[in-house]
Amino acid sequence: MVKLIDGRQVARVLNAQTQTRVAALRKQGIVPGLAVVLVGHDQASERYVRMKEKKAQSLGIYSVLKQLPADSTQAEVLQTVTGLNQDPRITAILVQAPLPPQIDATQVFGAIDPAKDVDGFHPENVGKLYLNLPGPYPVACTPRGIMTLLAANQVPLQGANVVVLGKSAIVGKPLAALLLNAGATVTVLHSQTKEREAFLSAADVVISAVGQAHLLTDADFQPHTTVIDVGQNLDENGRLVGDVDYSEASVNIEQITPVPGGVGPMTIATLMQQTVEMSEWSK
Ligand code: GUN
Repeated sequence: MVKLIDGRQVARVLNAQTQTRVAALRKQGIVPGLAVVLVGHDQASERYVRMKEKKAQSLGIYSVLKQLPADSTQAEVLQTVTGLNQDPRITAILVQAPLPPQIDATQVFGAIDPAKDVDGFHPENVGKLYLNLPGPYPVACTPRGIMTLLAANQVPLQGANVVVLGKSAIVGKPLAALLLNAGATVTVLHSQTKEREAFLSAADVVISAVGQAHLLTDADFQPHTTVIDVGQNLDENGRLVGDVDYSEASVNIEQITPVPGGVGPMTIATLMQQTVEMSEWSK
């Protein structure tokens, strides 16, 4: 029997802790403020952003959405970020990716005040993570949420062979750094990787962040593998699925995060956690 790693349950516990911390800050007259910048009308992004706003409000976090047209210029996006950097009600800024093609995302993330960079995408925060400097500083929310989920399920990482599929700046790269810092032996596979099979069949933990339905099946893994599925894909029938096909009959996958209900709720809960922490750090 494949065990399901319940992200909703861990997220619920984390959100309850966050709500308590927000209440404590509010007693001291401090209100965490999250600003989300959304450029354009990407459907998935609009859905995520709505969920983030709703969750923030339910936990007592002040929440603002800055929605800009799809044809915004670089200067307009930068101006929005600068305005939020200077707004004392805003303690955490998130610019939703992906950005339209005319926007230089690296420059936009680099324009966010590192102390308000709730995504941990600013080069200063990325550098701290890579150097494994002592905190506190913000770390990309999906990778951090995955680390919380692995810890909550007592998945050993020290000396473990961990394979990450995908090398994005949002998931693959920061996740590899966190895993390395936790003592794992980390291999990052990507579209140009040769002989993916050899790496997968030696992995204790596989984390897939590719975004391709049916990318992996049970036969790709060795027995007792823990699988974390970051994929959010629509299959042929329009159903939300991850990157990994599995069933009750799977023999190699020991435990896996379902989609939906695995990594997704952890990303949002970690964003809320980090929003509150950033208010606590800057007290
Ligand atoms: N797009 C997909 N995931 C994320 C994320 O964690 N942060 C931001 N800003 N954009 C995203």
